[in-house]
Amino acid sequence: MTKVLIATDKPFAEKAITLITMKLKQANFQTEFLERYTQKSELLRSAETADAMIIRSDLIDQEVFEVAKNLKIVVRAGAGYDNIDLEAAGKKGVVVMNTPGQNANAVAELAVGLALYGIRNMFSGTSGGELRGRTIGLHGYGYVARNVHRIAHGFGMDTIVFTRFSKAQAVSEGIRLADSLEELYAQSDVVSIHVPARGEHIKSVSYEVLQHLKQQAVIVNTARKEVINEDDLVNFMRFRPDVKYLSDIIPDNHEVFEKTLQGRYYFTPKKMGAQTAEANINAGVAAAEQIVNFILNGDKTFQVNK
Ligand code: 3PG
Repeated sequence: MTKVLIATDKPFAEKAITLITMKLKQANFQTEFLERYTQKSELLRSAETADAMIIRSDLIDQEVFEVAKNLKIVVRAGAGYDNIDLEAAGKKGVVVMNTPGQNANAVAELAVGLALYGIRNMFSGTSGGELRGRTIGLHGYGYVARNVHRIAHGFGMDTIVFTRFSKAQAVSEGIRLADSLEELYAQSDVVSIHVPARGEHIKSVSYEVLQHLKQQAVIVNTARKEVINEDDLVNFMRFRPDVKYLSDIIPDNHEVFEKTLQGRYYFTPKKMGAQTAEANINAGVAAAEQIVNFILNGDKTFQVNK
């Protein structure tokens, strides 16, 4: 019997768990849920007998692929797959997929919420600003950014985008394009980051880019901490007391922010962007369906390690 391990340090909502189990049962697959595990050994033990895995931000490294002798597919219920060692997966012939777009609205709603919180001076009782009439700069234009644009438009914001890969998409929606990252940061009141932690994006938010920011700018990061050059950000914010940074990821330099940048940053305690029942259902059920279609029909749509 095909065994699907659902290994989620951050568990799915109950409704999502019911629906995932139902989908897999219909295909006659067995399920094992490993949630809120604290030791890697727990993950390794469960992975040993798994044919397929559904994960979130769980770290799936070479060691996991080594012990999981029966493993054929790992589906990341979500967008970013920087937590999976694709090379190790390839060596073992394991197919890796994500579920693009399925949790995008949830992340986008959080991004706009953080923007509002920042523009309103962290609800501190002091007089802030409004989103209406301000410009939101989208660094990247994938599924999350497209949802941010839709929501921001409802607030009466203008959108500007810097993207290398989705220019046609942005133009087809009538969105203004920035020719460079520097231009994007120079023209935005709020910058919202939506690029993956891969290749050219790593540390792409550097001092060279940040120095162009407008007065009172708010930076929102619901992507990954790796896309920020944190040392540069801290140094920049030290001499630009008007700038705020709000992030869904606790940075490595957390203590430096606490000590020197009080009142100008906010970090969620745990990655919260996709932590909604709706996103859990969309991404979790899509992951279950992708596993069924792959195991039963060899369907490799959404494979990311081709
Ligand atoms: C993603 O890459 O899909 C988001 O960062 C959500 O991650 P999570 O599933 O760990 O909440």
